[in-house]
Amino acid sequence: MIRILFVCLGNICRSPMAEAVMRHLIEREGLGDRVSVDSAGTGSWHIGEPPHAGTRRALARRGISWEGIRARRISADDLDAFDYIICMDTDNRRDVERIGRGRARVMTFMELVRDARSPDVPDPYYSGNFEEVYELVEKGCEELLRRIREELQEAPAAP
Ligand code: 4NP
Repeated sequence: MIRILFVCLGNICRSPMAEAVMRHLIEREGLGDRVSVDSAGTGSWHIGEPPHAGTRRALARRGISWEGIRARRISADDLDAFDYIICMDTDNRRDVERIGRGRARVMTFMELVRDARSPDVPDPYYSGNFEEVYELVEKGCEELLRRIREELQEAPAAP
């Protein structure tokens, strides 16, 4: 099983959007039993809350479900429990790296987006621009899916 965790600040706007989009792609590809997707925040203000209305609207417009997604805070255990920890901006990555080190490969989401103009996915909590974020999230998740498919081909499931 490949385990992916998306991380942002509040875990209500960007990382739950990435979680929902990636889960949608993984299920569409029939890879639900080989890849798991989750998200968490570095902050604790919104623990237990569903995604922000702007994130829900961007997902609903594309028929993507956010069912079951609730905000939680990242913990030190997550650094060993996941294979990939994908941080939505460089502040998030710094905060994750301050928690410690583990088995997980820590990276930024924009490493997945070709010709990126910024190393950060802009925070729509402040900008209100959830559509701009959706476009980046979709591009990055498609690239992540491509990389995961390659990884799964290199390590086929046991017969
Ligand atoms: P997110 O956006 O990190 O994409 O979930 C934010 C949500 C809440 C806050 C900041 C950013 N906040 O300060 O409460």
